[in-house]
Amino acid sequence: MEPLPDVLRHFHPVLPAASLRKKPVRVEVAGRAYALFRDAEGRPAALADKCPHRFAPLSKGRVRPDGRLQCPYHGWRFDSQGQGANPSQPELRHCTVSSFQVAEHRGYLWLAHKDTPLSALPELPATDGYIFGGSFSVLFEAPLHVALDNFSEDEHTPYVHTRLGWDDPHADQVQFEAHNREDHTEVRYLAPQRPAALMKLLGVRDGDLFRNEWVTRFDPVHSQYTVSWESPTGKQRPFITRANIFFVPETEKTTRLHVFSFLRCVQPLLTPFLPVAARVAMELTRWEVVDDARFIPTVAGTPYSHKGMRLDRFDKPLVHQRRLMERIYFHQPRATPEDEAPVALAREAVG
Ligand code: FES
Ligand SMILES: [Fe+2]
Repeated sequence: MEPLPDVLRHFHPVLPAASLRKKPVRVEVAGRAYALFRDAEGRPAALADKCPHRFAPLSKGRVRPDGRLQCPYHGWRFDSQGQGANPSQPELRHCTVSSFQVAEHRGYLWLAHKDTPLSALPELPATDGYIFGGSFSVLFEAPLHVALDNFSEDEHTPYVHTRLGWDDPHADQVQFEAHNREDHTEVRYLAPQRPAALMKLLGVRDGDLFRNEWVTRFDPVHSQYTVSWESPTGKQRPFITRANIFFVPETEKTTRLHVFSFLRCVQPLLTPFLPVAARVAMELTRWEVVDDARFIPTVAGTPYSHKGMRLDRFDKPLVHQRRLMERIYFHQPRATPEDEAPVALAREAVG
């Protein structure tokens, strides 16, 4: 497979901030490895995880008391800007390694090139009544395009999931709408919610309708899902959940999903329960994402191109999203209007 293009012009969530302590940690984005560590002041830093001397992984080294990261092999040490020194040949020059920008945002460390402005950090809901329930990460044993396509349709809901949304007997009662926009896609589903005991913790009742509306963007690849329930007559249930899911390609064959879960309450009397309900909502979201992760190896070999597939109406966003991904995320020149291996073409240009 062709290597993935570099994507760090966009900020990517890579690690919960709390899990970076004294020891360096290796993370991967688009097939490139980075050594994350904290300097003497505790500030997070990132270097290419490849010592310039003989390419040992710096993430297997240690942080010195002066805050420099020391290579495990011959002890060269690097500050957070990548300036290196060789203890055995101090006069040796040009001992530098590439350094990257790390920002802390919503409890996560976000990685980007140094010239990426902080304003490029994706917004997460903060002021519109949503409270933060928590975040989690799940590894998908599948390439980015497979993980993204899975999260771009709900047609698989009755078969891959067991709680959220409708079941097989109601599969023909789904209302669906999708819009392909210039830089994003918008999708809406409304369907009978199957009976699910745990949903009752969020005030969902038997016979309710499940509403899932989302927007997918590509700077980096992420979707914002807003899930709510209503009575058959349209009475809104008290809680509205929101999940911001980031699709980070680690390698050509694996994708890590980082999920930020939020909850809003539309019934003032229940507002005191919001923090607890937000935790519950996050756990419910986690189960659904884990259901997808469990299934995804089954389709991991799905080709990149949709050519030859008998797509249905629920797949409307998929082909358009490939193009948005190439243009906005991979930053490659727009390929032919045909859905023909454009990334493969684009990747040749990267070399
Ligand atoms: S490989 Fe890192 S110091 Fe030699
Ligand atoms: Fe799913």
